Amino acid sequence: MTTLGTPLTPQATRVMLLGSGELGKEVLIALQRLGVETIAVDRYENAPGQQVAHHARTITMSDPAQLKALIEAEGASPERPLLVVPEIEAIATTMLEALEAAGVARVVPTARAARLTMDREGIRRLAAETLGLPTSAYVFADTLAELRAAIDSSIGYPCIVKPVMSSSGKGQSRIDGPADVARAWDHAMAGGRVGHGRIIVEGVIEFDYEITLLTVRALGADGEVETHFCDPIGHVQVSGDYVESWQPHAMHPRALQRAREIAATVTANLGQAPAGRPQGLGLFGVELFVKGEQVWFSEVSPRPHDTGMVTMVTQWQNEFELHARAILGLPVDTALKIPGASAVIYGGVDAVGVVFDGVARALRVPQTELRLFGKLESYVKRRMGVALAYDADIDVARVRAKQAAACVVPRAA
Ligand SMILES: Nc1ncnc2c1ncn2[C@@H]1O[C@H](COP(=O)(O)OP(=O)(O)O)[C@@H](O)[C@H]1O
Ligand SMILES: [Mg+2]
Repeated sequence: MTTLGTPLTPQATRVMLLGSGELGKEVLIALQRLGVETIAVDRYENAPGQQVAHHARTITMSDPAQLKALIEAEGASPERPLLVVPEIEAIATTMLEALEAAGVARVVPTARAARLTMDREGIRRLAAETLGLPTSAYVFADTLAELRAAIDSSIGYPCIVKPVMSSSGKGQSRIDGPADVARAWDHAMAGGRVGHGRIIVEGVIEFDYEITLLTVRALGADGEVETHFCDPIGHVQVSGDYVESWQPHAMHPRALQRAREIAATVTANLGQAPAGRPQGLGLFGVELFVKGEQVWFSEVSPRPHDTGMVTMVTQWQNEFELHARAILGLPVDTALKIPGASAVIYGGVDAVGVVFDGVARALRVPQTELRLFGKLESYVKRRMGVALAYDADIDVARVRAKQAAACVVPRAA
C-alpha cells in the first residue's frame, strides 16, 4: 500500500524536479494536489516550476559536484525518502546513477534511463542494436570528414544532422546535397550542448505522419508493473521544434498495434531497475514515424513530452498527473475525455518581463484554454505559452487552438 505524507512535516512525501520549465511546473502542480512536498530545481531563479513549489533551488544541474551536494543536502534517508524526477536532459546523469546505486535517492524512472536518453547515441544504439527496433539509417561522426564519408558510403541524401547532445531541434538541419554538408556541420557544432562535438547523421524517413505515444509504467492492484497507452498524439514540427499537436491521431489498427509494441519494448527496457531496486515507473513520450502500416522508432523522453501538453484538455488525467501518479505507485487511467489540439505561443521578441496582449480575445475563441508559463525572459523563439482547444471535431479544435495562439502577442513592456 502506498502511504502519502503531509508536506512540511517529518512525514512528508518528497519529490525533487530537476528542471522546472513548463512541463516540470505542471508535474509540480499535480504533486501539490496530492500533498507532496516539492523541491523545484533549475539553472536560474524563479523558473516556472519554482513559482509553484514548496522549495526552490538554483544550481548547474550538469555539474556533478553541485548535483551531488544538493541531493545529499536534502537529507535523503530511509525515513525521509526522496524521489528525484529529471525534467530536462542536460543533467550530470552519471552522478545520478552513483547516487541511485548508493541508495541516496530514487531516480524516475531510473538513472540509467536518464543517462541513455540524454544522448542520442545511447538511446539509438539501445533501440536499434540491442532491441532490434526499426529506426532510420544512422552513423555517428566526430569530424566534418567523417560526416562526408558517412553520407557518401551509407546514408545518402537527403539526410538530417543533429548534435548527439541537444533537444528541441537545436543544432539540427537537413542536408539535401553535398553543398549543404559543411553548413550543417557548423550549425550542429554551434547548437549542441557545450563540450560535445559528436553528431548523428540520419537518413530522412519520408513518413506520412509522426506521433507521440504517451506510455505509462504504473503499478497495478497486484503490485506488478503495467504498461498503459494514451491515444496517439499527432504533431507538426518546424525546424525540429513542435508548433502544433492534437489528440487523437487516427491510425491504421495494424500501425497502432506496431506502435504500441515498439513503445512497450523500449519503455520496458528503460524501466528495468538494477537488481534489488524498485522497478522504474512513470510516463514516457515515445516518438514514432508512420507510413501506411510501417512504424519507425525515433526517440523517447522518460518524462512528459511537450507535444503532450494537449492532454491538459483531452484526457481525464493529463500527462503530468499520470506521471505524478505513476511515480508515487498510484493507479492511472489514460482514457481520452474529448479530442483536442494545442498550438505554441512563441516569445516573438527578446525582452525581459514581457506583457501579453490579446489574452481576452484568445479566450473568447470557444472551448479554449491558455497556459502562460511565467518565464521571466522572452526570446524570439522561446516557448512562452500554449493555447489549448477541444471539440468533438478535431479539425475544429486545431483551427481554434491556432486562432487563440495567434491572438496572444507578447511585447516588451
Ligand atoms: N530521420 C528523420 N527522418 C525524418 N524526419 C526526421 C528525422 N529525424 C528527425 N526528424 C524530424 O525532426 C523532428 C525533431 O527530431 P528529433 O530527433 O525528435 O529531435 P529533438 O530531440 O530535438 O526533438 C522530428 O520530430 C521529425 O519531425
Ligand atoms: Mg523529438
